[in-house]
Amino acid sequence: MKQVVVVGAGYVGLTTGAVLAYLGHRVKVLDVDPARVEDLKRGKLPFFEPHLQELISLSQARLAFTSQYEEAIPTAEVIFIAVGTPSGPDGAPDLSQARSAALGIGRHLGEGFTVVVNKSTVPVGSGNYVEAMVRRAFWEAHGQEPRAYAVVSNPEFLREGQAVYDSLYPDRIVVGAEDKRALEVMRELYEPILEQSFAPPPFLPRPERMGAVPFITTDLASAELIKYGANAFLAMKISFINELAALAERVGADIREVARGIGLDSRIGPRFLQAGLGWGGSCFPKDTLALVAMGEEYGIPMPLVRAAREVNFLQRQRVVDKLLGELKTLKGRTIALLGLAFKPHTDDLRESPALELAVLLLGRGAFVRAHDPMALTRAQSEVSLPLEYAKTPEDLLRGVDAVVLATDWPEYRTWPWESLRGLMRVPLVMDARNHLDRDRLVAAGYRYLGIGVPSLGVLNKEGIPGSK
Ligand code: UGA
Repeated sequence: MKQVVVVGAGYVGLTTGAVLAYLGHRVKVLDVDPARVEDLKRGKLPFFEPHLQELISLSQARLAFTSQYEEAIPTAEVIFIAVGTPSGPDGAPDLSQARSAALGIGRHLGEGFTVVVNKSTVPVGSGNYVEAMVRRAFWEAHGQEPRAYAVVSNPEFLREGQAVYDSLYPDRIVVGAEDKRALEVMRELYEPILEQSFAPPPFLPRPERMGAVPFITTDLASAELIKYGANAFLAMKISFINELAALAERVGADIREVARGIGLDSRIGPRFLQAGLGWGGSCFPKDTLALVAMGEEYGIPMPLVRAAREVNFLQRQRVVDKLLGELKTLKGRTIALLGLAFKPHTDDLRESPALELAVLLLGRGAFVRAHDPMALTRAQSEVSLPLEYAKTPEDLLRGVDAVVLATDWPEYRTWPWESLRGLMRVPLVMDARNHLDRDRLVAAGYRYLGIGVPSLGVLNKEGIPGSK
């Protein structure tokens, strides 16, 4: 059992804290926002993440929240930095939060050997930077070198919406370190996960065939690059299938069949080959941009990563073009958006493809009315676009000229599409995630468009108001 501090109560920090407490460690989660800490003490989470609340309840005897470095740091054996690293103006991550965390840690570092763990996604070389900041802050506070500490990089691979599952049952754990003692501390910390020796929580049983988890130990720079490499590769994979989807449409192929056919090649793999509106969220856009910025800094142009970004942003435009192809003009039309979150099972709106699409539609003079099962409240306070919001399928679809599915929430498949059709001005469905049951929609009288799949159903063009 170790004394752990996690600095930053975001998706990564809170999940890491809750999981480590669940495994038996004593954990303090530190956030500089006192209001967030007060909420957490009262059991209120700052965002929605499946199973996190339940895991925190199961672990609360070993989990505390604070906003004070001096209270948490001196007795800690392992300190995670899990703060935000948003894109700065030049595309490189803004490290100001990581810097102030390192300074706060350095000022209050205790007597015993302490491992400072970089979990935030930071450019290669940041481990050394954090090390220097901790050392400097300690020196300023105490007039001497800190006794015993080491900085390691431990990149995070969890997905929002599946954060607890990914943390308990990861594909691998990567630790970059120069210090052997620090590596051993990290191995001990993660032992229950590496050996899968913990009792699974009742709401997340261990997957069948789950074996021991590979523990990758490497140098700091490699660990930092593994994180960027993984995210950029996944983003490229999605952009590749989206690029191919455009061609599939032209030649009359079905991209879902193509993805299945190529994904069964074990060298390629079936996941992250779902064509759609492209990727968004707080990670892929930021991390690919950071990789391009890093390449520029070191004189490596990174054309593949740049192209993946370009294809991704074109994908939103392609949906607008498809709507134009059917409706001729978007001026004055009302378009319904199914989904606002950047993906299902989260209320996170950062870099959401749905919102980028909304911007393009508004730019074409359309009205946009949106629904989301989880993110509506957040959208109302965080989004500054002139969107209308609808809480029910009926309110969303009444009088609209098309409905675009932007986020693949499972419940959209089970909406009563047959009875909703009559509410729409034009029964046009643009399924930008290939998620709906197209045969059912066509049987119900809709015109159905997807991404990289044949369009089905007919619209009576004469009957489309304003299309001539
Ligand atoms: C991503 C990575 O998957 C995690 O491994 C990583 O830890 C995380 O970034 C991070 O750096 O913190 P996340 O952003 O939560 O996780 O979401 P993903 O599930 O990867 O989805 C990203 C975007 O890609 C979503 O907009 C999703 O709709 C889209 N996507 C995903 C597709 O368009 N097609 C696919 O086949 C898969």
